[in-house]
Amino acid sequence: MEWKIGVIGTGAIGREHVRRLADVVQGARVAALSDANAEAARDVAGKYHAAFYRTGEEVIHDKSVDAVLIASPDPSHAGYVLECVRAGKFVFCEKPLATSAEECLKIMEEERKAGKRLVQVGFMRRYDRGYRELRSVLKSGKIGAPLMLHCCHRNLVPGPGHTTDMTVKNSGIHEIDVLRWLLGEEYESGQVLLPKRNRNASAGLMDPQIMLLRTKSGVCADVEINMNSGYGYDIQCEVVGEKGTARLSDPNTAVIREKGRCFYSLYSDWSQRFSEAYDVELQEWINSLEEKNMPSGPSTWDGYAACVTADSLSRARISGTAEKIPLGEQPEFYK
Ligand code: NAI
Repeated sequence: MEWKIGVIGTGAIGREHVRRLADVVQGARVAALSDANAEAARDVAGKYHAAFYRTGEEVIHDKSVDAVLIASPDPSHAGYVLECVRAGKFVFCEKPLATSAEECLKIMEEERKAGKRLVQVGFMRRYDRGYRELRSVLKSGKIGAPLMLHCCHRNLVPGPGHTTDMTVKNSGIHEIDVLRWLLGEEYESGQVLLPKRNRNASAGLMDPQIMLLRTKSGVCADVEINMNSGYGYDIQCEVVGEKGTARLSDPNTAVIREKGRCFYSLYSDWSQRFSEAYDVELQEWINSLEEKNMPSGPSTWDGYAACVTADSLSRARISGTAEKIPLGEQPEFYK
């Protein structure tokens, strides 16, 4: 079948996903969309021959819409996801699933009432070739049991309105998810260090930050989150195991030798660095709906685990000490 997708939010990533669903993903098309900025959404709707609605709720309740993709700002996610679940519609929600663990619990409760998994969270690093290879190296046992991870997430500049709390809850949340996925275990505790502040950061923004995470088996991860790198978008991850190490390579296709230099270019933002991962992510989402009538990617539980961790790290930034990460048992429904 051809899946008719309703899109809520046609800003930076929303427009990218609309293009992707229309031009790249097989078995789907964009049927309806909306955005708080009606003018921008109407233009996108015209370009892709989709219905335009003033509100996200109208997109969700359009009978011709089979599944919804949410790409509006973080605080609006939980409300739209709940509306989709109550309407019995599949929903792909950009990260984070919500801005607090409590909101994720409400979504879990409604999804369990619906009786089947409807929600997938946009943790696209799980679809990146490099991270997938790292995971299979860990699973193979080639480098022995993992002991430590050294990671960094650097943005050229933060998005508009970026706050100190968003460094963990909006950006760091990618690392929180992908590291627990790589290791296949949950976190025990977390801490946030605040190094010397970058003078290029906007007023009031504590940047950079370092997240320190310890898993239940004792693996330690240090993650630099740096929103004003000054040079590009740079994602790094190195796993140190008992017998060896494995790390992401810098994504590049050509090394240039010129004028006495040898170099390759780095990307400037997420849309370039993870372009292929987003393609795979949305294609696998549609495939799983078609083949299993259920999403196979990151679940509401994964969204919840990430938010519980992010909430603890927010507390840790304020308390200045390590905080417990109080995640209960994963319900059978999500295993
Ligand atoms: P953006 O600010 O470029 O776009 C957001 C759009 O939502 C705007 O067009 C705005 O008019 C619209 N909007 C605002 N309030 C709304 C509401 N209540 N209902 C419907 N539309 C509303 O932001 P961007 O960068 O596109 O981010 C959107 C979401 O996607 C965020 O939650 C962000 O965390 C996530 N994101 C995920 C990425 C990933 O790598 N997975 C990368 C970039 C963003």
